[in-house]
Order: sequence, then structure tokens, then C-alpha cells
Amino acid sequence: SPRVLSGIQPTSDSFHLGNYLGAVRQWVALQDDFEAFYFIPDMHAITAPHDPAALRERTHVSVAQLLAVGVDPERATIYVQSHVPEIAQLTWVLSCITGFGEASRMTQFKDKSAKQGADSSSVGLFTYPILMAADILAFQVDRVPVGEDQRQHLELTRNLAQRFNSRFGETFVVPTAHIVSETAKIYDLQNPTAKMSKSADSDAGLINLLDDPKRSAKKIRSAVTDNEREIRFDVEHKPGVSNLLSIQSALTGTPIADLVAGYEGKGYGDLKVETAEVLVEFVEPLRGRVTDLLADRGELDAILARGAARARDVAAQTLATAYDRVGFLPRT
Ligand code: TYM
Repeated sequence: SPRVLSGIQPTSDSFHLGNYLGAVRQWVALQDDFEAFYFIPDMHAITAPHDPAALRERTHVSVAQLLAVGVDPERATIYVQSHVPEIAQLTWVLSCITGFGEASRMTQFKDKSAKQGADSSSVGLFTYPILMAADILAFQVDRVPVGEDQRQHLELTRNLAQRFNSRFGETFVVPTAHIVSETAKIYDLQNPTAKMSKSADSDAGLINLLDDPKRSAKKIRSAVTDNEREIRFDVEHKPGVSNLLSIQSALTGTPIADLVAGYEGKGYGDLKVETAEVLVEFVEPLRGRVTDLLADRGELDAILARGAARARDVAAQTLATAYDRVGFLPRT
């Protein structure tokens, strides 16, 4: 059966609403029809300065959140990137067919390195997209569910796969990005033309799934809108209102047009209050499940051990083929 794969970095104490609506929700939906590989890219998480104890904790918390939202270890292979050394081995091979200029054009690198100061950015931050390509290509996957901000990295991945295949012979499946347009970009509540991101200057516009729901509800009620009164979906002219409509629609399953019709004659206050309520209903039980899951670390580790074993089987086959194609002598 066709394969799906995706990852989410363990770089904060909680997933945010953009991570969930843009990506992880799709992971859950796709695990029924695809052979699924979902993982925590802990190697990506050390490309910027970090605290080892926090990384360890956040890796467990990330796995618990995946399980809590419905990623099912019986159906999906769930693992930690560093447990699958074949990924790092494949990264080297892919690095050698990546152009320096090509890597330099990655906008996420340019943004992040501008923030950190170009000279203090790590080489790992620069080669990050090549590691991501290896994450994907090692598993011969068809679909990669991600938010809009990963589109360029997926393009690089496709280019590397095609380049390798044409130089050395058919080796890699060329993957397709699975980007659901309605939720591909969830915006910052205070700055609704910028994506919701943990690295924004202020966290007033950021909804963390594991935060106190009262705090999140308040953030939604304080969302920036506009000076009109009409509730209408128009991302360009009404980004704040449109973002709230997208969030409420995604969390309830009600199409945006139906929501808009229901808000006729009502005000922004109603939209905010009701969106806040919908969010609280979603996060409240989720937080409880995460707490329960974190109470049994042994079970989480067992899931990860099973996942790593399965993931290594698949990645080792791809690596062996790639090594052979580039002309490395077999180990006899
Ligand atoms: P990361 O950890 O930054 O984000 C995880 C997922 O959340 C999506 N996302 C959003 N979607 C909609 N609106 C937003 N505001 C928003 N913010 C984040 C991201 O697009 C992503 O899908 N490099 C990846 C992790 C990764 C990966 C991979 C993904 C490593 N290897 C292989 C897929 C396949 C990253 O940093 O995502």
C-alpha cells in the first residue's frame, strides 16, 4: 500500500494550533489508507542551541501528544529520528548531490540564520533540509502531509530524488507534498498576516495545545480583527476574521460558508467567543490524555522501540541500494 510520512520537531513544550491543524490532523486522517511513518526529528532539534534535558522531555511529550490526538501505534510506525542511524548515513550521500547554491536558497534557513546572526548559525541549520530529504527518501514514501512552510523543503526533496535517480538509476520514490489548503497556514492571532509560530517575538498570538485552556480562550477573545463589522472569509482583506473562521471550521468540521451564513447579523465578539469555546472543548480532554500517557514512560519507550525496529528495516533497505548505486563496495 502507498506510504505516508511526516515529522514534528520536539522544540517546544507543546504543539501549537498551527502544527495540529496544518499537519498532525492530516497524519491521523491518512493513517487509515496509507502505511504510515510518523516521527520526532530530534536531530533537527539540535540545529540551534538547546538544552539536553529539555530535549529529552519534549521528545516524550511530543510522542504523548501524537498518541493523544489519535495517531495509532497499531497502525502507524512511530519513532524518534536518532534511533534510525540510516537516515544520517543517507544524508551524507544526498549532501553530495546537493548544490551549495541550491541549499543557500532555502528561505527557512535564510530567515532563521538572519535571526540568529549568520556567523553564529550552525552548519547543521544549513544542511537541515538535506537531513529532511533523507528522512523522507529513506522510506520510499508517496505523501508527506505538512503545512505551507515546508513546501520548499519538499521541492528540494523531490529534486534530489529525481537527480539521484537520473544519475545513478531508479532508487527513490519521488514524494508529493500533502498540503490541505484550508489549514496550510494558520496565522498568529495578534499578527494575522504572519504564520503562527513558536519563534514569534511575542506569544500573545500563539495557541499551545497544552496551555491552560483559560489562557488560550483569552488569547482568542483578544485576537486582532479589523475595523469593519462584517464576518466574511477574505484572507487578503480580513486576515484576522478569516483566521478565526478557518480555526473554528477545522475544529468543528463545519464548512466556512455555513459558519459565515450563521454569523449574519452577529458581531466579531460572537465569532471570538464561540471560536474560544470550540478550542477549549478540543484541548481540555486532550490535556488529560497527555498527562495520563506521560505517567507511563515505559509504555512510550516501548512504542518507540517497536517503531525504531520497523523503521530501521525499511531505511536499511533503501540505504543499501543507494550505497550500491553510488559505487560503495558491499561489506562482506
Ligand atoms: P515543524 O516541527 O516546524 O512543524 C510541524 C508541522 O507543523 C506545520 N506548521 C504549520 N501548519 C500550518 N500553520 C502554521 N502556522 C504552521 N506552523 C507549523 C509545519 O508545516 C509542519 O508540517 N522540518 C519540519 C519537520 C520535519 C519533517 C521531516 C516534516 C523534519 N523532517 C520530514 C516532514 C517530513 C519542521 O520543522 O516542522
